[in-house]
Amino acid sequence: MTLKDTATAVWQNAYAPYSNFKVGAAIRAASGTVYAGCNVENVAYPEGTCAEAGAIAAMIAAGETSLTEVYVIADAPMPVTPCGGCRQKLAEFGAGDVPVTMATLGGQEQVMTLDQLLPGAFNQDHMDSA
Ligand code: THU
Repeated sequence: MTLKDTATAVWQNAYAPYSNFKVGAAIRAASGTVYAGCNVENVAYPEGTCAEAGAIAAMIAAGETSLTEVYVIADAPMPVTPCGGCRQKLAEFGAGDVPVTMATLGGQEQVMTLDQLLPGAFNQDHMDSA
């Protein structure tokens, strides 16, 4: 399955009874394997998790720690960008040139790199002693 097909399939399983906004994500890891995730909301709203976080968790659980491509899809009027927290989560496992495709169910797509989505990202270099 393509990243798009995987993200679209998992989108249907999203659990979003509070926002009614389902999101599906697919990430390709360094091995080529594709991992899927969807948002999982909770009645205690801050406990909800984003689709990207679910896909990352699936990748890590499978023993991979490097991603090369990301696809995010939602039923929206414009391509949905990963939230700030998810940009940081994706940057933990992907290089700056990793392409992130943001898509709508209607067929719009927009591609940006992780660097473009999170310029000046906080990283390990900032933790070196001065
Ligand atoms: N959401 C995601 O899962 N990923 C995004 O990139 C944007 C937002 C979810 C979180 C919440 O369940 C719903 O969309 C509305 O914010």
